Amino acid sequence: MKRIQEYRNVYRFAIVYGAVLTLVLAASGFGWSQSFTGKWAGSQRTLANGEQERTLIQLTQSGDRVTGTLKTFGYQNPLSGTVTGNHIQLMAPWNPKEILAAGELAGSDLHLVWDHRQIVMKPATAADEIPMPAYIPPPALKKIPYNGLAKTPPMGWNSWNLFAEKIDDATVRKIADAMVSSGMRDAGYIYVNIDDTWEGTRDAKGNLLPNHKFPNMKALADYVHSKGLKLGIYSSPGPQTCARFEGSLGHEERDAQTYADWGIDYLKYDLCSYGGVMRQLAPNDAAAQNRLMREAYEKMHQAVVKTGRPMVYSLCQYGDDSVWDWGPSVGANLWRTTGDISANFDRMSLIGRSQAGLAKFAGPGHWNDPDMLEVGNGRLTHDENVTHMTLWAMLAAPLIAGNNLAQMTPEIGAILMNKDVIAIDQDALGKQGDRVYAEGPVEIWAKPLKDGAMAVAIFNFGETASEMRGIRLHLKEMGFPKPVKARDVWAGKDLGTIADDWKTTVPRHGVVLLVVKK
Ligand code: GLA
Repeated sequence: MKRIQEYRNVYRFAIVYGAVLTLVLAASGFGWSQSFTGKWAGSQRTLANGEQERTLIQLTQSGDRVTGTLKTFGYQNPLSGTVTGNHIQLMAPWNPKEILAAGELAGSDLHLVWDHRQIVMKPATAADEIPMPAYIPPPALKKIPYNGLAKTPPMGWNSWNLFAEKIDDATVRKIADAMVSSGMRDAGYIYVNIDDTWEGTRDAKGNLLPNHKFPNMKALADYVHSKGLKLGIYSSPGPQTCARFEGSLGHEERDAQTYADWGIDYLKYDLCSYGGVMRQLAPNDAAAQNRLMREAYEKMHQAVVKTGRPMVYSLCQYGDDSVWDWGPSVGANLWRTTGDISANFDRMSLIGRSQAGLAKFAGPGHWNDPDMLEVGNGRLTHDENVTHMTLWAMLAAPLIAGNNLAQMTPEIGAILMNKDVIAIDQDALGKQGDRVYAEGPVEIWAKPLKDGAMAVAIFNFGETASEMRGIRLHLKEMGFPKPVKARDVWAGKDLGTIADDWKTTVPRHGVVLLVVKK
């Protein structure tokens, strides 16, 4: 009897509690929401190689939180998220500030905006399963001999910053022509690098074919070579590239041989989906993940060496795991030190300034790479373009232009092809410059040059022109105790003898670049 009474009490309590909860939810405007627990599949778009980009997500909701996984072509990443009523936001658990996707439940479908694209995800069936690639153990690390390339920072052009997925054979040829006619080639810009989205699908033997945008890669390489230029290509150690095209995981030797057969001279190898592979193989073990990353880079390096064709090896993993410490040990000639640049002053200058302290890791054959140039792209002003070019030259950074060379204005050409600035970047001593002084938005950077001279750049990252009152040049600290002979590089003018108290006005977002000598 007592037991029945207890049940009744519980039952009553449940009814009252339920009614109160309903009122609270209605009052707070949430209304009832459906559960986000489930599995959905969808396709965002068709890639240039004809493949459907497929996305499969599995979620478990607990209160206003969800956890789960995201699967695309060949890798899996964890997801976390928040729920408000019918609305959901999804993030990578390690970066909760960056929203990967957001949207809502509509009936049984999930309507999301992912990477700026609408995607309608339907409840998944067995046919939507995405198989994961088999794990292929990479080789153990061993000492890699230097390949003798990139004695000075590589110079060239790359398709990504401006053309992104719109790059094709005709555009590459047009750029190669323009590299010659504009004088860029003769100024030292030699590499024409095709970035992501050239990849097609694999044939029955596993050979990767280019997609329809590149009908004949060998013929394109021959054309580029006939202009006295070299051709670069792009891939990823993961199953997919960052634009979700076919990557090289499990096909490293075959792909390296394909590049060699085509006549490729430069390989940019971009981590992309291999980050997901690392997290999948070694969950919550950063050290093991980092080891996998190095091994993956070494694996491709060994594959390239095996072909016998020299290729500049460019690592792109956004500076993770202090890549400058180990880049040369996996055969890298250059390694990205940061996330992606974009054509605006804040991003460009943030990336450039963040290079302070990295100078000791660069040298002939192995360079820090703060990403490709945006000179001539976006709405960078004249002074901003000059600052960009100067900062990269001071950093002994690879000078990989990213603008449309076929429509380059004389003003942009003059910035990219300034011989004296290029000479600072390419100086045979191979020393990267560093910050020697900073006060507010004014920074002085110095780069030692081969003949005992010093390049000295006075940057004004601030919003108003800065008269250099009270700011010394700090020549003594740079090893020049007496007055020096100076040349203003961008003005193309000798300044005669100057001392530490020399004054100038540096425009907003601008720079004054000097070369000083004893
Ligand atoms: C990453 C790289 C970029 C570019 C794109 C291509 O974002 O950092 O430089 O190669 O991938 O998808």
